[in-house]
Amino acid sequence: MSLAPKALLSARQRRARGLMRRSGVDTLIVTHPPNIRYLTNFAATAGIAVLTGDSLHLIVDFRYYEAADALWASPSGSDGSVIRAEISPENALAELVRNGSFGRVAVEGAHLPLSRALSLARSLSTTIDGAGRLVCPEPAAGEGADAPERGTSAGGGRGGGLTRPIAATEGLIEAVRAVKDAHEIALLRSAARLLSSVARDVLRSVTPGRSERDLAADIDGRLLKAGFERPAFETIVASGPNSAMPHARPGDRRLTAGDLVVLDFGGVYSGYCVDLTRTLSLGEADQKAKMVYNAVLGAQAAAIRAVQPGVKASQIDFAARDTLRGHDLADAFGHGTGHGLGVEVHESPRIGPPRESIADDTIEPGMVFTVEPGAYVPGWGGVRIEDDVLVTESGCEVLTAVPVGLTVE
Ligand code: GLY
Ligand code: MN
Ligand code: MN
Repeated sequence: MSLAPKALLSARQRRARGLMRRSGVDTLIVTHPPNIRYLTNFAATAGIAVLTGDSLHLIVDFRYYEAADALWASPSGSDGSVIRAEISPENALAELVRNGSFGRVAVEGAHLPLSRALSLARSLSTTIDGAGRLVCPEPAAGEGADAPERGTSAGGGRGGGLTRPIAATEGLIEAVRAVKDAHEIALLRSAARLLSSVARDVLRSVTPGRSERDLAADIDGRLLKAGFERPAFETIVASGPNSAMPHARPGDRRLTAGDLVVLDFGGVYSGYCVDLTRTLSLGEADQKAKMVYNAVLGAQAAAIRAVQPGVKASQIDFAARDTLRGHDLADAFGHGTGHGLGVEVHESPRIGPPRESIADDTIEPGMVFTVEPGAYVPGWGGVRIEDDVLVTESGCEVLTAVPVGLTVE
């Protein structure tokens, strides 16, 4: 496992603070484990990171006391403090907030289920208002005469505590994560190289008579053997008519001569996800399979050519979609063209058509994402081709290197 050095963690936190300032947030309560991991290297199923303008506190429960202390004492530990939650992380957070000055505090709106928000609200003696903010009840008349004026003080003032509603942010740390740093790029390059070598072996093992489930288990085993920590998602092996389902689950169907077979798999390497799809024909492909395959391959090439710093993500998607439209396959392509890769297998940027209320990200050097157009014809079959790209100053570098073609050379 290769962890980011302390200096890179500090740089990530600095970038997050820049976005926080632009969003009017002084302190962000980070509850999404992948975001905590990104900011601190601390990988766990639970915990709370409190990122302020000049510090970071990591609240952990009993299960992680030792691991967090050991990490903090290592060259890959973050600046800031580890706080041991004796009752619950929410309780420890409330203690921290009650006793400090944290200014305008925000939580991660997309990662706080209502039950946890209610528990947090209880611990902080707040209520949740109609706008989803955690608000302190108004003090009774005459109470708190020496407390800072509500809504005007940036923070706790005398004795600390909450003086402003806690707001919710959306995708703040995720926006920072979208542009990879040198450590992440090195890991993603290695991971893509490793996945490519697994894929080249896998393609040679696609033979008639094997069940989808058997082949999927074989792929997962090869991923582990090659050095991946685990598959990045449930491996897809979709044969014959099943290949028309973009996210088919491998079943008992046996691969049969004449089938199209979609193989979509990925691995997690030192915490980073890579993702690849190839489609094969078992035996000689017919005219229709060749036409659909070449259309999807052309769509992928057009999308990869469209990757440039400064373009909108939707322009990359358009390049793929427009190519498929030229082959009368517009209706056969119903999902987005790609997604960011990093500590999660689906992250920003989203490479898809423009959608109201969803950000159309501007492509920047350092972004890593998939380019995976497909065409699916119910009852007949489908084709998807997926590679991973790194955006450079002048275009992109394709990180995965696996032959394309309906048959294995
Ligand atoms: N099967 C997950 C993906 O390719 O996005
Ligand atoms: Mn995939
Ligand atoms: Mn993908």
